[in-house]
Amino acid sequence: MLSLVDGEPATEVPLDDRGLQYGEGVFETLLVDAGEPLAWDLHMARMTRGCQALGLPDPPLAALHRDALGLCGAQDGPAVLKLTLTVQGAGRGYARPASVAWRRIAQVAPAPEWPAADYERGIRVRWCRQLWFPEPGLAGIKHLNRMTQVLARAEWDDPGIAEGLLRDPAGAVIGGTMSNLFAVCNETLLTPLIRNCGMAGTLRARIMACAGELGIPLRETMLSATDCHRADELLLCNAVRGIRPIRILGRQSFSAGSVTRALQAAIAGPWPRPASGAE
Ligand SMILES: Cc1ncc(COP(=O)(O)O)c(C=O)c1O
Repeated sequence: MLSLVDGEPATEVPLDDRGLQYGEGVFETLLVDAGEPLAWDLHMARMTRGCQALGLPDPPLAALHRDALGLCGAQDGPAVLKLTLTVQGAGRGYARPASVAWRRIAQVAPAPEWPAADYERGIRVRWCRQLWFPEPGLAGIKHLNRMTQVLARAEWDDPGIAEGLLRDPAGAVIGGTMSNLFAVCNETLLTPLIRNCGMAGTLRARIMACAGELGIPLRETMLSATDCHRADELLLCNAVRGIRPIRILGRQSFSAGSVTRALQAAIAGPWPRPASGAE
């Protein structure tokens, strides 16, 4: 892993960093293909919304772009770029410094493997016990406090299970620990509404725009676990792994259908591309 802190090669931050002390900051995880970070504008738009939601200054976009290009140019194959903004420390305590100074952390590592079967047949997914509690002011953004996801991910160590789904205390399905969920019911694409909690994924946004272009009806809505088990198709998405159908959820099996295949074919990215058409 190569890393920069404020544009210089470094692997450490000071102990008083407010990202480390309080989780004060935001981050983005981007896929890099042929030396180029994909969906840059969508990632920077979410980062900007995150800074606004946290009452912090706008992100230093030009410096982030310099960091990104500096690191990505050195990558031969597909890579994952993580850009983190933390608030620099200034004394003890929660009170914010009178003037906030950003600390930029940029890290790049090779992309994970993308087994073709995950894209063709799909992945195995479980329900998590961990609940995603409402945090309306923070819904949708990628802030540094991710204990909900860490605790949910700690519920399993079976490498055959690729992802876990979380619900809110009322039973509404919110999404995966690291991905967004779409269900296909009666040829309509449904995805959990992100209002009180959840993450507004960049690939989710690309899929929603793509559905419009392909003429696939789409609704952001409340989905229960029962709705998911009755769905005709289920898929999970994120910027690094692309679109993967769910093959098994709990004890139930699903097949990738024509909507999943149409989206996999239409969304550009370096992931394995299954043949179009339902199985
Ligand atoms: C909880 C959660 N949901 C969804 C996503 C997907 O977001 P994106 O499509 O921008 O990768 C992520 C990404 O890390 C995530 O952590």
